[in-house]
Amino acid sequence: MKAVAVFPTKREIRVIDHPEPHIESPVQAKMRVLEVGVCGTDRELASFRYGMPPDDSEYLVIGHESLSEVVDVAPNVSKVKKGDLVVMSVRRPCTHPDCVACRTGRQDFCYTGDYTERGIKQRHGYMTEFVVEEEQYLNVVPQALRDVAVLVEPLTIAEKSLEQLGSVQQRLPWAGTAKIALGEMPSHGYRAVVLGAGPVGLLGAMALRISGFEVTVYSRSPEHSEKNAVVDAIGGQYMAAETHTVDDLAKAAGPIDVVYEAVGASAVAFDVIQRLGPNGIFIFTGVPDRGGNNPVATDQIMRDMVLNNQAIVGSVNAPPHAFESAIAHLTAFMQKWPDAVRSLITARYPIERAAEPLSGRGGGVKNVIQVAS
Ligand code: BGC
Ligand code: ZN
Repeated sequence: MKAVAVFPTKREIRVIDHPEPHIESPVQAKMRVLEVGVCGTDRELASFRYGMPPDDSEYLVIGHESLSEVVDVAPNVSKVKKGDLVVMSVRRPCTHPDCVACRTGRQDFCYTGDYTERGIKQRHGYMTEFVVEEEQYLNVVPQALRDVAVLVEPLTIAEKSLEQLGSVQQRLPWAGTAKIALGEMPSHGYRAVVLGAGPVGLLGAMALRISGFEVTVYSRSPEHSEKNAVVDAIGGQYMAAETHTVDDLAKAAGPIDVVYEAVGASAVAFDVIQRLGPNGIFIFTGVPDRGGNNPVATDQIMRDMVLNNQAIVGSVNAPPHAFESAIAHLTAFMQKWPDAVRSLITARYPIERAAEPLSGRGGGVKNVIQVAS
């Protein structure tokens, strides 16, 4: 079957012929892949800056943001049935007996670093025709979300972050009271800034809006009109970095209770940290390239953090329940803002043309490889 693979030692990326997988255990299902989203992680993989093939392979089949259809199930599978639409999770646990995170199904918090990730780290991914996976890693998606369900995995990144935000905001003495919920005025925690207007940023902005936050999206992207339109549609405020400094941002959005970073650009992120308001929380989700050594105002940042009770939290990957909340949220987004959600998917490419969006030439918000229809 066809698959898109990177060969890191040869520095090649191409469509290869990869062996079709078969069900090998009573708890597995076989899926026909319909669509696979391309993200920044894939672009890093495609330029050989990130990721690793399985130990016994010279190549890695990439793709981790998928939508598939179940075509076969082993006898003990009860979570899915033939014909179901499913989104597969990405990370698989390490095997160390004492990694409490992996041993309790929370490999998104793996201690050892020996976790694997499908399509990223030592496990083949989903940019191929068929995939076999254990039912525990499958998430059923309603047929009504067929057009947009490829956005579920990137939305899980926002879902986990918002959960982290919720647990940090619980420290506010008045936050847990019945009258004041997460993001709800006047809990003094409802003004959010989203850094970046890519898929993770815009999906995060939607999740923040639906949870009651005021949202300002700050974007360095040169393509403003469609991103601006999405932010307008969800009742947020859009600011372009070209025309607005971070001081303008802080004035327009502040005092900032939450910064949700979804861009992977450390210099602008550390600028914005200095505009965080009292009791503010800054959440990092972007993974910058190594090597940029930018000057950082360490005294100022440390001083502000202490005097203002601020918190900085990094968040990666997502637990199983984040897939459930992503599916529920995407359903709600489609009820409220169907056109804005659909507009996040910029273009669909056949697998033979995968190199185009992988090289970053695609532009727009989310580019998708359409493997089957
Ligand atoms: C994926 C995550 C993964 C992370 C780090 C992201 O693009 O969505 O599932 O954990 O990359 O590899
Ligand atoms: Zn991704």
